[in-house]
Amino acid sequence: MPLDRGPRSCPHRIVAAARRPLRYRCRVSETPNETPQQPLPAKSFDPRTFREKPVSFVRRGRMTPSQERAWDELGPRFLVELPRDHAVTSIAKDASLDPAAVYGRTAPLTVEVGSGQGHAIVHAASEHRDRDYLAIEVFQAGLARTMIRAEWADTTNLKLVEANAPEVLEHALPAGSVDEIWVFFPDPWHKARHNKRRLISEDFMRIAARALRPGGLLRLATDWQDYAEQMREVGDAASADFERAFDGDWAPRFDGRVLTAFEQKGIDKGREIRDLAYRLR
Ligand SMILES: C[S@@+](CC[C@H](N)C(=O)[O-])C[C@H]1O[C@@H](n2cnc3c(N)ncnc32)[C@H](O)[C@@H]1O
Repeated sequence: MPLDRGPRSCPHRIVAAARRPLRYRCRVSETPNETPQQPLPAKSFDPRTFREKPVSFVRRGRMTPSQERAWDELGPRFLVELPRDHAVTSIAKDASLDPAAVYGRTAPLTVEVGSGQGHAIVHAASEHRDRDYLAIEVFQAGLARTMIRAEWADTTNLKLVEANAPEVLEHALPAGSVDEIWVFFPDPWHKARHNKRRLISEDFMRIAARALRPGGLLRLATDWQDYAEQMREVGDAASADFERAFDGDWAPRFDGRVLTAFEQKGIDKGREIRDLAYRLR
C-alpha cells in the first residue's frame, strides 16, 4: 500500500505516518474515551498514542481541494512546524518556538487558542502590523482558510501552528513571551459528562500564567452562561497569578474581537455573550 494515501487507507501506521506531512497522517484516538476509526489489532496497541488527559477537541472534517491547494502553497509561509510527541496533535516536551526567530523581529505577541477560520486573528494582524500573532488550531480546514485570509490581507506578522494549544503554550513558547492570550468561543462541552473536556480550567490558568509576560492579558469570550461562570471561577481562583482586568460582573466586549459565526449563532439563539479578561500580576 503506498504510504502517501489519505487517512481512510491508513490503519494506524504511526511510524510510517510520522514521515509524511501531518495532514496525511492517519487519525488516532486523542483520548481514552474517543473511539478510533478502526479498531487496533490487539498486538499493535500502543498506549503511548493515547493521552493522559482528555482534550478539548475532536478533529473533524477533511479539507476541500482548494484548501488542500492553499495548504501546499501557503503552508511554507504561514505554518510553524514543531516536533511532535506521540499523539497527532501533541507537541514534544522539548519543542521550542522562538518568536524572534519565527517573526524575524521582537514585537508584542498575541496567541489565539482555537482560532477557527481565523476571522479574529487575521483581522487583528492586518490592523496591528507592529504586533505579532500566533494562531493555534487543530482543525486543518480552519487553518487552511486562515492562510487564505492572511494571504488576501497580505500579513507578514501572523503564523499558524496545527496542535493542541495548551501544549504549545506549555512546552514550546518561552516563559513570559506572550503579551495576550485569546480564547474566543471555546467548545462548550455542555453535557455534564463532557465538562472535563473544557479548555478553561485550573490547569489552563497555570499554563497561561507561565506563557504570559507580567501584565499580559488572558481574554476569554463565550455564549454559554455556565461556562462563563466556570471561567470566572477558575480565573478568580488563580488570584495568586491573575487579577481581574474588568469592573463589575463581566468585561465589556473586547473591541478587537470581530463577530464570528459562533458568536452570531449564540446571539441568534438568544444567549448572552460574556467577555472576561485577566491580567497576570
Ligand atoms: C467553537 S470554535 C471557535 C472558533 C473561533 N475562536 C471563533 O470564535 O470563531 C472552537 C475552535 O477551537 C478549536 N480547539 C478546541 N480545542 C483546541 C485545542 N486544545 N487546541 C487547538 N484548537 C482547539 C476547535 O478545533 C475549534 O475550531
